[in-house]
Amino acid sequence: MTSGTIKRIGVLTSGGDCAGLNAAIRAVVQRAIRGYGWQVLGVKEGTRGLLERPLMYEELSLRIFTGNILRMGGTILGTINKGDPFAYDMPDGTVEDRSQAFVDGFHELGLDGLIGIGGDGSMKILSRLAQQGGIPFIGIPKTIDNDVPFTEFSIGFATAVTAASEALDRLQPTAASHQRVMILEVMGRDAGHLALNAGIAGGVDVILIPEIPYHLEKIADKIASLRQQGRNHALVVCSEAIRSADGGSVTTTHVDGEVRYGGVGHGLGEQIAQLTGAETRVTVLGHVQRGGAPSSRDRIIASAFGVKAVDLLAEGRTDRMVAWQHREVVAVPLEEVVSRNHNVEVNGTLVNTARGLGICLGD
Ligand code: F6P
Repeated sequence: MTSGTIKRIGVLTSGGDCAGLNAAIRAVVQRAIRGYGWQVLGVKEGTRGLLERPLMYEELSLRIFTGNILRMGGTILGTINKGDPFAYDMPDGTVEDRSQAFVDGFHELGLDGLIGIGGDGSMKILSRLAQQGGIPFIGIPKTIDNDVPFTEFSIGFATAVTAASEALDRLQPTAASHQRVMILEVMGRDAGHLALNAGIAGGVDVILIPEIPYHLEKIADKIASLRQQGRNHALVVCSEAIRSADGGSVTTTHVDGEVRYGGVGHGLGEQIAQLTGAETRVTVLGHVQRGGAPSSRDRIIASAFGVKAVDLLAEGRTDRMVAWQHREVVAVPLEEVVSRNHNVEVNGTLVNTARGLGICLGD
């Protein structure tokens, strides 16, 4: 399918929200309408919009894109992070394969192509759906976890790093005033990019990430060495899925059966207090990292991704994900994207930077 045969495309956001999604939607609409004269339908609430009957969608015209949308957090289309059509939770509690309903929904709307803005999980699901239904598909990576492979940045990551490093800016003076060890727990699931970047930007003393199992004694040694230098407060940033060298990470199973991270910092704070005698306080930053206005970097990346995604559809170069590599937007085959993951490289530049700054990584 090339630009001459495309008349109408769909765009959806899938998985957890983050800052910059609206900027990407805006770019898709601007490029599709201005550049190619296509019609754009916004599919509501991720995959659900094409699974439900009646179908959930709205036409996105240039008129709805007032000056504000670029600056808005969240997603005007809505999203869900439980919308896997291959294992869909039905209202009666059963789980069904509803993938064909998604494909049928795509055709019922008369769409000629689909752009999906999502994280690594969404890329896997959407590319499988596209293959099954012969849907010309392009993926745009977004996630505050920054764990989508082949792209240096995913939409939302930069804003989340700013939120976490600003939190550290606020924690430092109160840590110093009260001579406390402040622990900031950040999100990121099993990837430590957010903690590592925020920790360096926020000038912390200890960074704990899932990729490097930690020893409590190493953290205690670091705090002791700070005391010897005459400093009686410290900042620690930890990922929500950290693992101690001799134990597992902390997850909670909720009433809906979903396993979630969050709260590991509290136990860590207790352990540090016991071992060092320091007074500790814990802040779990949570969804604050996902909200707010997108940073300028996220707006730029989202805009570049949106324009490129439409151009790829027009060229007929589908089954690809746009990616940021060496200051350029490139197209990566989805079959490669879904076969890899993207964790922190334990010998990479930023880990070495942290070590060079004297930051303890718990090992
Ligand atoms: O994947 C993004 C993310 O924010 C993770 O960092 C976090 O663990 C998870 O989503 C939280 O999901 P929910 O919004 O369902 O609580």
